[in-house]
Amino acid sequence: MKTNMQRRFLFLLGKLLLVAAVLPLYLSGQTTDTRAGLIVFREKGCASCHAVLGEGGVLGPDLTRTASTGNPLELAAAMWGHAPQMWQRMKLEHLELPTFTTEEMENMFAFLAMIRSFDEPGNAVVGQQVFQAKQCATCHSIGGQGGDLGPNLTTVASLRNPVAWVAGMWNHGPGMVRALRERGISFPEFQGTEMVDLQSYIRLQAGAAADEKTYLRPPSTERGESLFRSKQCINCHGIDSGGGTSGPDMSRVVLPRRFGEIATVMWNHEPQMNRLAAAASISYPQLEAQELADILSFLNSLSMRWTGSASAGAKLFESKGCVNCHATTPGQQSPAPNLGKIEQSLTPITVSTIMWNHGPRMLEQMENTSMTWPVLTSRELADMIVYLESLKGRGQRPVRSPSSGGTP
Ligand code: HEC
Ligand code: HEC
Ligand code: HEC
Ligand code: HEC
Repeated sequence: MKTNMQRRFLFLLGKLLLVAAVLPLYLSGQTTDTRAGLIVFREKGCASCHAVLGEGGVLGPDLTRTASTGNPLELAAAMWGHAPQMWQRMKLEHLELPTFTTEEMENMFAFLAMIRSFDEPGNAVVGQQVFQAKQCATCHSIGGQGGDLGPNLTTVASLRNPVAWVAGMWNHGPGMVRALRERGISFPEFQGTEMVDLQSYIRLQAGAAADEKTYLRPPSTERGESLFRSKQCINCHGIDSGGGTSGPDMSRVVLPRRFGEIATVMWNHEPQMNRLAAAASISYPQLEAQELADILSFLNSLSMRWTGSASAGAKLFESKGCVNCHATTPGQQSPAPNLGKIEQSLTPITVSTIMWNHGPRMLEQMENTSMTWPVLTSRELADMIVYLESLKGRGQRPVRSPSSGGTP
């Protein structure tokens, strides 16, 4: 049983490394280790109940596509809410309830966020339809058929990673647009996963020649942020109202979560951007695959920032019954720890660590007083965190929230 599990995890690890490792977790620029996160996920027993990418247990939901993974606050709230059922299942299965260090929790969050950004394998049949509908074969040959106005796509078929693939198209964009115009063919826009499907089809057509693999380093949000400036994206796209205004403000745009899909959205705006850039004498940004992955990681992170309200949190602290057990003012006695004394900085990750480590005893006390486990939405959890943080300085210290991190 154990060796079988280990084998499955080696397989999973291999599968994960094939695709670009993605790190859309955005917490005060801390570097996290997604591979260590996979090991934590396995060693704490999560995998015996939860599958990721279709591998693992079935007692709990597959965490690859549950809405909660991919955003630390949602994930923390979901775990908080499901904790009692989860602990109950663990006891039934005679599993020891795991405890975590903050670092382990950080890595596990990074791992769970990463798997959510992976594109599903494309559908080659749909890809073929797209290839035909968009008339790619007029100019490109693949598997020995098609035109020769553009490069033979067998060479790009080796790019396994949708991001590397889009980077190739992006860099050749101006030349391709010129050729399209000359032929009177409209610019090919893509929807959803079409780009990934197309890539699957092209890989299949190219056959054995497509065996080369492209590995990208785990993308870095920080590198992405500085590239967003150095490649002059910022000249047109504001972030939190700093920066240019001719393109949409990136902190307001809701981008898809998966990398191949964000890259597609970016591709679709190529002609418009190209035109504006020429008019404003901004040079067309050439992007290495790694650079594009970094930029996408940065864009992805923008939607993961959170803010909360201390006064709303204070109300929740009463309405959810926390006040029954926990004092908050210095020196005040209470049956459970005084929460004004917590020293570590509270974030979705540290709150989850606390929840796993102290939760079972907290639950026990609640059951003794016939209280039900309080469930919090992600919004409520944010308010609660900001409130508990505000207790430390009694309003003196600015509340630390990752949302202040990326503002120019
Ligand atoms: C013994 C089985 C079991 C183990 C071990 C387990 N879980 Fe769960 N988990 C469940 C079940 C069952 C649910 C669904 C509970 C419900 O429906 O309320 C769940 C729900 C969740 C959810 C919420 C998913 C959603 O719907 O958004 C998350 C996140 C989660 N678990 C993470 C973890 C992590 C991380 C670990 C390891 C530390 C873990 N679980 C260990 C059984 C388990
Ligand atoms: C009207 C002709 C034309 C059509 C139609 C066309 N392309 Fe291109 N494509 C080109 C040209 C020309 C280039 C090279 C541009 C350059 O290098 O400046 C190119 C470049 C590319 C590249 C980059 C290749 C490399 O070596 O990195 C990819 C990928 C690509 N096209 C994919 C497609 C796909 C997919 C379609 C259909 C959705 C398509 N093209 C439709 C003319 C076309
Ligand atoms: C010259 C101005 C300009 C530059 C430079 C520019 N963009 Fe854009 N961008 C635009 C405009 C305008 C749109 C909206 C286009 C449309 O609606 O078709 C856009 C749209 C986008 C979108 C889609 C947003 C949505 O609403 O879905 C993404 C993603 C994007 N740009 C990323 C980038 C990145 C990354 C860079 C830097 C490599 C960049 N842009 C550089 C003008 C620019
Ligand atoms: C029935 C009593 C009870 C209620 C109600 C309760 N807790 Fe607790 N809580 C405890 C106990 C007991 C502990 C300590 C458990 C331990 O030491 O393992 C604890 C620990 C904690 C800790 C960790 C404290 C530390 O020093 O690290 C936090 C944070 C916390 N609770 C937050 C909350 C929040 C937020 C609520 C309301 C949503 C709440 N608690 C409701 C009993 C309760």
